[in-house]
Amino acid sequence: MATDIAPLTLEQIRHRKIDLPVCPDMLVRLSQVLGNSRSHVDEIVGVIQVDPTLISQILRVANSAAFGTARNILSIPQAVIRLGVDEIARIASFLLTKRLFQQGTRAWTPACEALWQHSCMTAVVARKLAGRWNPRMSDTFFTVGMLHDYAKTLLLQVAPGDYPDLDDPVAGHGEALLIWEQEHFGTSHARLGGELLTHWGLPKTLVDLVAQHHLPRADSGQAGQLFDTANRLAVHLDEAGQTLPLSPDLLRALSDLGIDKEVLAVISREAQAEMDKLDAMRRAGNVSSGAHRLVGGVDPLERSASEKA
Ligand SMILES: [Fe+2]
Ligand SMILES: [Fe+2]
Repeated sequence: MATDIAPLTLEQIRHRKIDLPVCPDMLVRLSQVLGNSRSHVDEIVGVIQVDPTLISQILRVANSAAFGTARNILSIPQAVIRLGVDEIARIASFLLTKRLFQQGTRAWTPACEALWQHSCMTAVVARKLAGRWNPRMSDTFFTVGMLHDYAKTLLLQVAPGDYPDLDDPVAGHGEALLIWEQEHFGTSHARLGGELLTHWGLPKTLVDLVAQHHLPRADSGQAGQLFDTANRLAVHLDEAGQTLPLSPDLLRALSDLGIDKEVLAVISREAQAEMDKLDAMRRAGNVSSGAHRLVGGVDPLERSASEKA
């Protein structure tokens, strides 16, 4: 792997007239309270309650088909009672990372859609695997899943047309992509992503998991190995990845977590159901807030969903 090229930094990206997205304050505060094992439900609700756009989006989602009809939920405390604080925190985290993806793209291309879908699938799978290991980490793993590859949105803008196809389960992920990034930028989307999350002031647990998500397994701690397994399983569960057999390496990592083929089939089914739910949440949570940069006057995520349908 070539290493003689100076690593691309966030500062250099800025000099190329590419705006660094601004992380919603709410996501920083929500990640802090969710990452603190002593946080109470009141604190989590308190964080969500101060963002009127987020409140209205959460209520739309909570009352949408994604959670059944006629719920008539009128406030965040009511939503917490009906759906549970974990569900509300996940909806909030999903909506806030959606804002980031909307900010981070100049146009919603198929590459952006592939990245969004992979991020959602990784979030879903990471939350599931974390739930088997340490349920208190589930929300953190969900947010890490949503953000782990986020720096690819910057690299897509630095090298439009050249960046490998993110819809390709081989070229767009793993070793092949890391080699390409190292040769062209002297860095990786993981390292750059860690720098970006630090710049945003997100908690160190999130920063480390993002920055280290392509480290060799031997160099990762338990949390890092679990996230790595979730990331690679998500690539396999993505539409294009399903045509590839599970690698012996991934099978071994799953087996270390006590996941055999039968359990894997259940996880796959549940993950797909969760993805359908996120898709419904994505449509229900679409509110033009002025905080989003819209392409052609239409929410790019919303437009992409309707084009797909
Ligand atoms: Fe990655
Ligand atoms: Fe990934």
